[in-house]
Amino acid sequence: MQGIKDKIRTIPDFPKPGILFRDITTLLLDPQGFRKTVDELVQIHMSSRIDKIAGIEARGFILGGAVAHQIGAGFLPIRKKGKLPHTTIAEDYDLEYGTDTVEIHADAVSPGDQILLIDDLVATGGTAAASIRLLERAGATVIGCSFVIDLPDLGGRARLEQMGQRVQTLCAFEGE
Ligand code: PRP
Ligand code: MG
Repeated sequence: MQGIKDKIRTIPDFPKPGILFRDITTLLLDPQGFRKTVDELVQIHMSSRIDKIAGIEARGFILGGAVAHQIGAGFLPIRKKGKLPHTTIAEDYDLEYGTDTVEIHADAVSPGDQILLIDDLVATGGTAAASIRLLERAGATVIGCSFVIDLPDLGGRARLEQMGQRVQTLCAFEGE
């Protein structure tokens, strides 16, 4: 989706040398760009009932909150370890070096909830895969995943599709 991709800024060598950081803050600052992004993120999933949007900390909160408001769904934050105040359940995932952990409140999912997962970007898919495992352990059905940016070289989208997920991405940065 060229109108969206054009509004994403690339910062070389952030947060460390050799990384090209895809910065969506320029897209969020653009009123038409932000609205179009929110409209499109939910588009291919609109044939399913959606009870809740789950957004992954941190940029998934901005996008997921707007989508939840737009479609009249609840919003469920998926947070990094130690941020949620009530009883939590957690799922670990691998990073390039070491592991990280995502958490939700244990009572955030009602039996049978149909949930759409939203984040800004899918790279290896590790964060989203852990989030899906977490939501399913809590009793939800994850009806799909939507991301603004796909990095196909890292294989995350394919990994999520192999888990049986319906994946929507709005643009891709491949070999650039
Ligand atoms: C980035 C991005 C996704 C995740 C994708 O977040 O916003 O959430 O990495 O990577 P993966 O597909 O390889 O799991 P990051 O962990 O840097 O944290 P942040 O959003 O809180 O900045
Ligand atoms: Mg993130």
